[in-house]
Amino acid sequence: MAIVINNTDKTYTLYTKNSMYQMKVDDLGTLIHNYYGEKMEYSDLHYYVECTEIPPFSPNPIACKKTKYPNYSYNHIGEEISFSGNGEFRLTAMSIRNADGTLGCEPKFVSARTEKGKYSLKGLPAFYGDEADTLVITLKDTIYDIYFHLYYGVFEEYDLITRSVVVENKEKNSIKLEKAMTLNLELPSGSYDMIYFRGRHMRERMFERARINHAQTSIESVRGASSHHENPFVIIADKNANEDFGNAYGIALVYSGNFKISAEKDQWEKTRVVAGINSENFNFEVESQGTFTCPEVAMVYSNEGFAKMSNCFHKAIRNNLCRGKFKNARRPILINNWEGTYFNFNADKLVAMAHEAKKMGVELFVMDDGWFGKRDNDCCALGDWTPNETKLQGTLMELSQRINNEGMKFGIWFEPECISEDSDLYRAHPDFAFQMPNRAPQISRQQLVLDFSRKEVVDNIYNQLVKVLDSANISYVKWDFNRHITDLYSVSLPSEKQGEVYHRYMLGLYDLLERITTKYPDILFESCSGGGGRFDCGMLYYMPQVWTSDNSDAIDRLKIQYGTSFAYPVSAMGAHVSTCPNHQNARVTPLKTRGNVAYFGTYGLELDVTKMTDEEKAEITRQIEEFKKYYELIQRGDYYRLLSPFTPEESLFCAWETVKPDGSEALVCTVRYESDAATAPEFVKVKGLVKNKWYRINGGEEKYLGASLMNIGFKVPYDFFTYPSRLFHITEA
Ligand code: DGJ
Repeated sequence: MAIVINNTDKTYTLYTKNSMYQMKVDDLGTLIHNYYGEKMEYSDLHYYVECTEIPPFSPNPIACKKTKYPNYSYNHIGEEISFSGNGEFRLTAMSIRNADGTLGCEPKFVSARTEKGKYSLKGLPAFYGDEADTLVITLKDTIYDIYFHLYYGVFEEYDLITRSVVVENKEKNSIKLEKAMTLNLELPSGSYDMIYFRGRHMRERMFERARINHAQTSIESVRGASSHHENPFVIIADKNANEDFGNAYGIALVYSGNFKISAEKDQWEKTRVVAGINSENFNFEVESQGTFTCPEVAMVYSNEGFAKMSNCFHKAIRNNLCRGKFKNARRPILINNWEGTYFNFNADKLVAMAHEAKKMGVELFVMDDGWFGKRDNDCCALGDWTPNETKLQGTLMELSQRINNEGMKFGIWFEPECISEDSDLYRAHPDFAFQMPNRAPQISRQQLVLDFSRKEVVDNIYNQLVKVLDSANISYVKWDFNRHITDLYSVSLPSEKQGEVYHRYMLGLYDLLERITTKYPDILFESCSGGGGRFDCGMLYYMPQVWTSDNSDAIDRLKIQYGTSFAYPVSAMGAHVSTCPNHQNARVTPLKTRGNVAYFGTYGLELDVTKMTDEEKAEITRQIEEFKKYYELIQRGDYYRLLSPFTPEESLFCAWETVKPDGSEALVCTVRYESDAATAPEFVKVKGLVKNKWYRINGGEEKYLGASLMNIGFKVPYDFFTYPSRLFHITEA
């Protein structure tokens, strides 16, 4: 029942557990978007978008004069996919430059078919699953042999609908895509906000909310990566929607490169959203008989606010986007040496750290940047993936064995997409790096970006990675990317095809990731881009966790992990306990607070454990045991944001919760991020419990009714020091 085709009404309706998405072929053969929102009994919902009024200054296709809609205009009807050049003046998804130089397209319905299971996209990441259903609707331009195949994937259980568009050129000559965005969504009448997650390095995914009005509201990246600065995920929500109330549409791009998500109200107050590849610096030729695939967009609709939407995304990302043996397995608790040593280490130092860490229960040792070429700082050697055997005091295999002998698995850092000018690879192949002829390139962190639009460049790096990964006992890889793309010019493409390079770079990267992750199914891969600069659904398809931020301060992490949690699950968020004063902001926080915050991520360590006091080591030992005890509940429970870290005027605490879906057990974490004198008692209201069941907190004597914990909450004591944190384990009495 996920896809219902009504041939009488010519409607195509997608149903999930709680949502409904309806399209219709109208009298002119246009595919119209009737509705997306709360699930209803079937009816043809065309009346909302049909063109009965006379929209001012909106041109009419001549064919409409003979129909019952003489005022029909593309500038008014709710198209399922919109094009520039055909009288549509609003936000459009597509711009097609035909071989004869004309701009414009009027695609009409050709056919529709359903498939069992979820479609996949060649060379691009996408949600997957046999339990999903696929609908493919094909449209064709009225004049040219250009086809548009609209793919929809329906995951009923998670209220998730995906969409992609494949453009197929059956003309004799090439066409140019000047804009190829995946999503075009008309919303039901009303006023909406766009909630987006902006930031910068070390301050990723800060929650912000803007009213969608007649001026366009957009977020985008033109950096060649999804970026720290904007995340390819938004929530379009009723202006009064909150965690538990109101319509909320989550929209996530399954793409890691340049993107744009825009929304606007049109002249008649209807809201449209478009999302996909950013058309700035994009111009893609589709050759005769060729195709172009737009990256996938995933949407979740919730009629009960943000929490429900987040939980659908969390489950779908965990189960139907992440792949490989680690997607649901308990990941090893790791220690990473970066903040402990930076570049200043040798094998003895690493083994000493591993030795101490093992005693506390750590399971995996990760050697970060600095192990290859002559890399003792960030000025050189990227591209030369040859172990520095002087620094490693032997071969990489020997080091991995020394770590294994300590009873630990061994992991390693790479930055495969970049190259230092001071490297053997650059000296041999300067053309491998993006740079323009006759112009000095922009240097960022002393490095350039490799031209992954070229297969021979990707192959070179693939072969180097394979050589390293085959040479030692490697169980984990951290895949970093520490600058953005400038000097976009590929020597392999003619000038008229340079507008393809950003997207071809992404295709090259995805190809490399697919090859490497398939070849090494037993390696756990963690994605990173100067922390959380590429925390998106695209990367999560290849690697189930992402280093959330280079900012490891527990208090700053409250906001970063809060923002990240709107789309992405706890299991994806790399989170480590680091030293104090914190290296990024000098803040001093209790070790327990640092641990509690890292629990709601992958939990690991990032400090020099050989310098810790016995008391600190005992605390880490306790934390590792506690984290393992709560692992299943934390990773697989339903996640609720209870108190925001952005509203100190409402509460001094930030609080969040994970609860078993049957409401039998919950874990609430509170962190006080402000101090105050004579504070009023603070109560935290829990979610997801069973109203008429009795519960205890941390095994205490007192019993609380589920309804009272949800309606009144429990009291959080005021601890008399800065940045305290507590865990409240709620179990059935
Ligand atoms: C940036 C990462 O986010 C850090 O964790 C570390 O791996 C450095 N790069 C190493 O250069």
